[in-house]
Amino acid sequence: MSMIHGLRIKDGKATYVSRYVRTSRLKQEEFFGGAKFMKIGDLKGLFGLFTVYMQMLRAKLKVLDITYGNGTANTALVYHHGKLLALSEADKPYALKVLEDGDLQTLGMLDYDKRLAHSFTAHPKVDPVTGEMFTFGYSHNPPYITYRVISKDGIMQDPVSITIPEPVMMHDFAITENYAVMMDLPLCFRPKEMVKNNQLAFSFDVTKKARFGVLPRYAKSEALIKWFELPNCFIFHNANAWEEGDEVVLITCRLQNPNLDMVNGVVKEKLENFTNELYEMRFNMKSGAASQKKLSESAVDFPRINENYTGRKQRYVYGTTLDSIAKVTGVIKFDLHAEPETGKAQLEVGGNVQGIFDLGSGRFGSEAVFVPRQPGTESEEDDGYLIFFVHDENTGKSAVNVIDAKTMSTEPVAVVELPKRVPYGFHAFFVTEEQIQEQAKL
Ligand SMILES: [Fe+2]
Repeated sequence: MSMIHGLRIKDGKATYVSRYVRTSRLKQEEFFGGAKFMKIGDLKGLFGLFTVYMQMLRAKLKVLDITYGNGTANTALVYHHGKLLALSEADKPYALKVLEDGDLQTLGMLDYDKRLAHSFTAHPKVDPVTGEMFTFGYSHNPPYITYRVISKDGIMQDPVSITIPEPVMMHDFAITENYAVMMDLPLCFRPKEMVKNNQLAFSFDVTKKARFGVLPRYAKSEALIKWFELPNCFIFHNANAWEEGDEVVLITCRLQNPNLDMVNGVVKEKLENFTNELYEMRFNMKSGAASQKKLSESAVDFPRINENYTGRKQRYVYGTTLDSIAKVTGVIKFDLHAEPETGKAQLEVGGNVQGIFDLGSGRFGSEAVFVPRQPGTESEEDDGYLIFFVHDENTGKSAVNVIDAKTMSTEPVAVVELPKRVPYGFHAFFVTEEQIQEQAKL
């Protein structure tokens, strides 16, 4: 079941709510009087994250005789066409409404007038200039990838099938002003191994290259997609992408040696020599060349930017620092205009690391969402706040921290203490006052 925790900040006052997304899965569980689906409460860290993704996949693969409506809507949120959407990559979106008092109401599953017949990534991209939303779904049956464009008015365009050699887990993608960037990374679904072992098998294939497909973003077919190869890796999350001359630039969190052999959702191997670092990747649309450059030490993930710059060249990336079991230990700000100081043993301020907000011993957090002080790109890109949940394992107390993204000062702008514990979650999203008012017209 998926719970969304909402914090409404208005006129200097904060209101907190937590509401289940009323997915059909939740209704089924209520009907059957118990949880027949996996619970994620006890799972922590990277293994937990992978296990949850595995559960999503198993759901999609119908091992539990599941069709749509059994997703968890628990991975991420996005706002588009007057609706807040709760997303998980094995299902379709659930539309929510943010009420004036901050409460959250589930409106129902969204299928875009029955045009959506496949799953929907938890990480669609909204173009801040055109208002369009770009998305995809992945499947274990051909076409393994289906790419979609949704107009500003909420009309879903025809599907575009993307051909890849075998089914893979594809958690994120990216857009630029003219392109969509698809990631064919070798976390492969191997049905033969499943049959052989009578188990669901997902294998990270270390022998395969990482492939990146750059498609003109309004393409009606995949005819014009250009594929690029880079050394073996896996990626959960991209920060952003843009165009520079003939090149498409991707800023991403790259996992090396993830050793993700999983059977029935259990990671078989220990993570050794595992790194999770910020990278810049470049794809030259004229020459076909691809290159990559490391921008950080390990371990960094959950990258966010000022989303007024989605698809456009920008300067600052905000991520989370992770400990050895992938708990969030702090918030880190990168300046992409500065050169990285690589070769250090750990992440520290200097070079392209402009600031680290360390949560302190025994305190762990969530993804930090960047909230600009002003809408649009008139003010400075980093003029705004980073907002994130923090849980203190020493005291058992949870809070929301608001920090200054420009200064990364260790003194928070605001701390909102919460009446109850908020579990470590995946992603976070900020809904503006304008968006709250806009949805009321629906
Ligand atoms: Fe994600």
